[in-house]
Amino acid sequence: MDRTVVGIDVGTTKICTLVGEVTGENDLRVVGVGVTPSRGLRKGVVVNVKDASKAIFASVKKAERVSGYSIERAYVGVAGTHISSLNSRGVVAIGHGDRIITRDDVNRALDAARAIAVPHNQRIIHVIPRGYTIDGQSGVRDPLGLMGFRLEVETHIVTGAVTSLQNLIGCVEETGVRVNDLVLQSLASAEAVLTPEEKDMGVVLVDGGGGTTDIAIFIDGNIWHSLVLQVGGNNLTNDVAVGLRIPFSAAESVKIKHGHVILEAVEAGEYVDVIAFGEAAQQSIARRQLVEIIAARLEEIFELVSREIKRSGYDGLLPAGVVLTGGVAGTSGIAELGRRVLSLPVRVGYPMRLDGLVEAISSPEYSTSVGLLLWGMKQEVAQVGLPDTSERWSDIYRRFVNWLKVFLPG
Ligand SMILES: Nc1ncnc2c1ncn2[C@@H]1O[C@H](COP(=O)(O)OP(=O)(O)OP(=O)(O)O)[C@@H](O)[C@H]1O
Ligand SMILES: [Mg+2]
Repeated sequence: MDRTVVGIDVGTTKICTLVGEVTGENDLRVVGVGVTPSRGLRKGVVVNVKDASKAIFASVKKAERVSGYSIERAYVGVAGTHISSLNSRGVVAIGHGDRIITRDDVNRALDAARAIAVPHNQRIIHVIPRGYTIDGQSGVRDPLGLMGFRLEVETHIVTGAVTSLQNLIGCVEETGVRVNDLVLQSLASAEAVLTPEEKDMGVVLVDGGGGTTDIAIFIDGNIWHSLVLQVGGNNLTNDVAVGLRIPFSAAESVKIKHGHVILEAVEAGEYVDVIAFGEAAQQSIARRQLVEIIAARLEEIFELVSREIKRSGYDGLLPAGVVLTGGVAGTSGIAELGRRVLSLPVRVGYPMRLDGLVEAISSPEYSTSVGLLLWGMKQEVAQVGLPDTSERWSDIYRRFVNWLKVFLPG
């Protein structure tokens, strides 16, 4: 299994396991796909370990059957409102006689940046370098091999609640799969859908899933800001169910089949059949009524996104606009509505840079899982010879299990 990478996207509505074979320096072929409905999650967070674990197991087994590989380790996406992020700076002096910056100096600078006061119930998931400054000269992307006396690094630090992380790791490890690393879902999606030019110029990634909408702002090639909104596609479905007085499942299917968000794009006389509650098995509703319900909620979500962009303070630095992905981005007319509300360029982001079983995973809802594979591939290449990070996450899980044993009868 040394030239394969596995990603598991544990989403609120679906679990997707992908197996990829690394075929070249930067190329991946997807050889296994296992998608199952999600169980035991709410708003991106595990609330029932047993149910979630069963769903993950089913997805892993499917991907194993398709690929013919036995899955031992995986990169796992993490999201939810327990995630926080902040920017932190680390400064170190370069101590050697020749003053050439080495990997060790960079690691010391990163360690200095991560030495921040994290609340005791939070744990650091990522320390991402955003840029380096050498002797006051900012804007350095790669300091290795350059000369200097003083190295500064600007980082974006992502943390998550220990218990939520433990529950997620626990669900995956219960299936016999070790967690290679946890990856913020929006960072993974960004790997799959953003172009390097967009990240350089300044762009907002908005991943609209079933339970949450994840936002990540990229400037100068790196992430500067990230957050998770507690609203997603399930809210849209719920609005349709309540507005049309139909069951949730019927609302979900009518939303996906006939949903749109631009009123003028739908004929006034167009009707669609829906399965209603009660005696009347079927009823016809004006499609425009459906459009109004979906558009109202999506407009509200875009307003929230707009507010968060402004609150970040980076609103003037985003010429590449907004890239929408996640299942919700499949809604017809969504980019147009986004442009109207946000007054920025908006496009829908589909997973890119793929080979193999691409048909099955070419829609925006697979961006996170594809991104996990790409993220994993990058780590495997960068970490040749470095210690295995899965030890770290397994350790967190083991401590959790030991802690639980104290409370459980022998
Ligand atoms: N073609 C489509 N049109 C409209 N909505 C869609 C479409 N396809 C999927 N969705 C919606 O997208 C949502 C699921 O998206 P996705 O699969 O990205 O979520 P998830 O990753 O499971 O959840 P989360 O990331 O929030 O934990 C559902 O609400 C679903 O109704
Ligand atoms: Mg998702």
